[in-house]
Amino acid sequence: MRSFCENNRELCRFTIKILIILSVAEKIQCQDFGYDGDKGPSHWGEQYNTCFGKHQSPINIDSLDVVPVNLPPLEFIGFDEQPAKTNLTNNGHTVMLELDADPQPAIAGGPLTGVYEFAQLHFHWGDNDTVGSEDLIDSHSYAMELHLVFYKSVYRNSRAALDYEDGLAVLAFFFEVTSMDNPDFTDFTTLLSDIRSPHRSTSFVNPPKLRQLIGQDLIHYYTYNGSLTTPPCSEVVVWIDFKEPISLSHDQLEKFRALEDTDGARLTHNYRPIQPLGDRIVLFNTEDVIENNLQNRNGPAYAVVPAEEPVAKPTELENEKIPDVPDQQEITEPSNTVDTEKPQSEKKGVKRKFRKNTAWRNSPNSCFTVAISLIIVLFIRFSANQFF
Ligand SMILES: *[C@@H]1O[C@H](CO)[C@@H](O)[C@H](O)[C@H]1NC(C)=O
Ligand SMILES: *[C@@H]1O[C@H](CO)[C@@H](O)[C@H](O)[C@H]1NC(C)=O
Ligand SMILES: *[C@@H]1O[C@H](CO)[C@@H](O)[C@H](O)[C@H]1NC(C)=O
Repeated sequence: MRSFCENNRELCRFTIKILIILSVAEKIQCQDFGYDGDKGPSHWGEQYNTCFGKHQSPINIDSLDVVPVNLPPLEFIGFDEQPAKTNLTNNGHTVMLELDADPQPAIAGGPLTGVYEFAQLHFHWGDNDTVGSEDLIDSHSYAMELHLVFYKSVYRNSRAALDYEDGLAVLAFFFEVTSMDNPDFTDFTTLLSDIRSPHRSTSFVNPPKLRQLIGQDLIHYYTYNGSLTTPPCSEVVVWIDFKEPISLSHDQLEKFRALEDTDGARLTHNYRPIQPLGDRIVLFNTEDVIENNLQNRNGPAYAVVPAEEPVAKPTELENEKIPDVPDQQEITEPSNTVDTEKPQSEKKGVKRKFRKNTAWRNSPNSCFTVAISLIIVLFIRFSANQFF
């Protein structure tokens, strides 16, 4: 190194600079998020600015400070159909289920404008049965919370949808602990032992219908505008939290806690602490008669929202004009696996593959991109120095 530096002072200086910048860049870009210490929720904002935003999730929902509304009924499309295949993955942060179904299940109605297509579902849980849910109801924490993630279908995929304030909708279901196993989740919890290590995937022999994994009462729910509860914390989510919890036994919950994270430690908790509500309003949907409850409140009236025209099903959207969604990848966001989605028109007749929905997962791609860009920039600067 020494004689190399003496002979090529300029080159040497640049090489050292490159090495320093690369190591810093790697630290910044490649550190995965977690739930403890340096990688924990209070540090997410250092890498992902949006995590310090003002409309973050989760929140504590104060049931005495919600606005009762009668929203149009939520529509559950394809929830009673058995998917062709499933892909259940331990991604190091949670267990995630993707479906191979064409079309994917979808939701519409309620607080939503337009149709939202299913991307994936996953869970958040805690060290013991008294903690684990992300949103709290009257400061009460449930043992686990299920998130079914949907993206607005006009945005084509869940990654592109992150650029729009109405990009995602999440159906959230809470879990309460009962002494009996929930038979609807037996296959699910049994499969978890196949994917104890991170980045393992498995599939159901007999894939469950979405209807089997959700609650019964789909009328009473809280809804508010918030964010992803993991980096990049994008504030693009219409949250729909159902009031009635699903039951699960302690033993079934323990199967989730036996999963391992990327450090090989047990994934005993993966819930983000609550964030300030700020200037937001939480609505509570009920079928009760609502009387001008907003007369004395500032802001828009929510009471008795008139039912909208029937919303188009995803298949009917095929011929609609799809807005141009830039596929650019922001370096500050965890890079997605390569987006192989084709415009809808090209997709006709093509069997849909598992949708990659990894917007909130880090991948080495971003590190690679940063490294390459830096090398190119420095190389250009170096050659310029040489020749001028
Ligand atoms: C299942 O999903 C994971 C994560 O998205 C992916 O890496 C894996 O290739 C998928 N497996 C199949 C069979 O599609
Ligand atoms: C459950 O876990 C939480 C968080 O780790 C802890 O604060 C609490 O004391 C635990 N409760 C019991 C009953 O062990
Ligand atoms: C959520 O945001 C949308 C538009 O950004 C707005 O129309 C809607 O009223 C908001 N919902 C609530 C519950 O504040």
